[in-house]
Amino acid sequence: VFNHLARAPEDPILGVTVAFNKDPSPSKLNLGVGAYRTEEGKPLVLNVVRQAEKLLVNDSSRNKEYIPIVGLADFNKLSAKLILGANSPAIQENRVTTVQCLSGTGSLRVGAEFLARHYHQRTVYITQPTWGNHPKVFALAGLSVKTYRYYDPATRGLNFQGLLEDLGSAPSGAIVLLHACAHNPTGVDPTPAQWEQIRQLIRSKGLLPFFDSAYQGFASGSLDRDAEPVRMFVADGGECLVAQSYAKNMGLYGERVGALSIVCKTADVASRVESQLKLVIRPMYSSPPIHGASIVATILKDRSMYHQWTIELKEMAERIISMRQQLFNALKSRGTPGDWSHIIKQIGMFTFTGLNSKQVAFMTKEFHIYMTSDGRISMAGLSSRTVPHLADAIHAAVTR
Ligand code: LMR
Repeated sequence: VFNHLARAPEDPILGVTVAFNKDPSPSKLNLGVGAYRTEEGKPLVLNVVRQAEKLLVNDSSRNKEYIPIVGLADFNKLSAKLILGANSPAIQENRVTTVQCLSGTGSLRVGAEFLARHYHQRTVYITQPTWGNHPKVFALAGLSVKTYRYYDPATRGLNFQGLLEDLGSAPSGAIVLLHACAHNPTGVDPTPAQWEQIRQLIRSKGLLPFFDSAYQGFASGSLDRDAEPVRMFVADGGECLVAQSYAKNMGLYGERVGALSIVCKTADVASRVESQLKLVIRPMYSSPPIHGASIVATILKDRSMYHQWTIELKEMAERIISMRQQLFNALKSRGTPGDWSHIIKQIGMFTFTGLNSKQVAFMTKEFHIYMTSDGRISMAGLSSRTVPHLADAIHAAVTR
């Protein structure tokens, strides 16, 4: 009965890892998926995560019962506090409903399904370009997806004028997806002053902001600073949605831990929103898994573990920044044609190199370097040892 099926293409990001795994070359390098690696090129489990896991395993009062549809209460409360700030008026007034979801993607999808069912505007605006999964998440939930200008290839920076024009002509009430920090794939974020202008425009037009916060702590190294854009929108008393992921900032990729918060106007609305979110989640996956969210809650509620987490997070962010400098220096010392200053200007896990898909294909074929075809490289996958190899490959690709 499935004979008619054509083979589907691999995922543009996760498929890079599939191709990488098949390559027998000892010098191969995977700079595709945004996943942190140590200087030795190994995946990292944070010490504080190991410590939390030990506590959980040794606690004989714990069991494996189903947790509520909306997830662990502690985890939800602490997640809202992490992104909105401990003194957030929205939290104090009980206007926020938070549900534990399957990492960032799951949080976006639950939010999108909820909006498709209960929100009057069915159009969502996403940045051009954006993370490859964004349009699919929203389209499959039944929303109509449009783009707004964001990145200017000429300056390798923000097309702020284009952004204001496109959001300015969006229909009233439209949903706007915003990357809270460390824009994926470009590494280009608005300045605080630009955020303020975006906020004013969004509020004056009655658009609905939906933040994707997948890199809190990874852009500036500070959890609070990276949450500023979200807090700016919550401070004005208006509504918004926020999808949070702990994949990157706690290194919990495969544990699939995330949260969706919906900031409402009143506590009563927030509790009705939560009741409807349950109806979205129950037929989809019933209730979320217990382990990853327990790790997060254990760390967030303990002062000293929280502090240790911030230190380890900062170390990851700083290693990435040092990779940016090293790659920039390596290209400079090779005299590679072009202005590569965007490598050190862009922030977060990725550099949007400006290399085209042909150059990427060349680097994969000749140098066994794997990255997405849009020229994005995951700086987190790079180390001092592999920078020269990447610089040689980029040099060869742009000079051939
Ligand atoms: C990425 O963009 O590489 C990450 O967000 C991982 C993913 O799921 O695509």
